[in-house]
Amino acid sequence: MRDVSLLDIFNHHITQKYLNRSGMAHALAVSYHAFNLAKEQSEDTDIAAKAGLLHDMGHFTWYRNGKWDYELYKQNDIHAIKGAERAHKLLIRLGENPIKAKAIALAILFHTDSFLPTNDIIRTPLQQIVKLADEKDEEAGGMHHYRKIDFERARDSIIRLDNMIDEQCENNPAT
Ligand SMILES: [Fe+2]
Repeated sequence: MRDVSLLDIFNHHITQKYLNRSGMAHALAVSYHAFNLAKEQSEDTDIAAKAGLLHDMGHFTWYRNGKWDYELYKQNDIHAIKGAERAHKLLIRLGENPIKAKAIALAILFHTDSFLPTNDIIRTPLQQIVKLADEKDEEAGGMHHYRKIDFERARDSIIRLDNMIDEQCENNPAT
């Protein structure tokens, strides 16, 4: 039995606030990709799906003259750092196991190289999964952040993914 479900996370107003800013459809797609990759590689599907869901919750919208500015974003962005911190705070508040909360936060921290001085860090398999899951859903010019999904459909797909994780945990009690 997991301490916190994806639905618990999804229902929280902090999640709604930040994921609707960075793109709920993208968050869901990355969560599904991360689940599938973790399943293939016998990694923890619960940690992977949660990190995938929350990986972009640190985004800030960089506007200049009332318009989104991608150049400004690329220059100033630290969303991986903010996201790791926000996700950790939210998960602990919801009652997540602290070891899992740390693993999720670190996977979010390292899901991109954008804030690092070099791109030669060595990631754990789980951190690699979240990075790859994000890249699978990326569109040119950051367009993946703008794909829309309505609330009910998003909620249904979260419930479906929760069931898939529960099934996976029953089959592999060690994960
Ligand atoms: Fe992303």
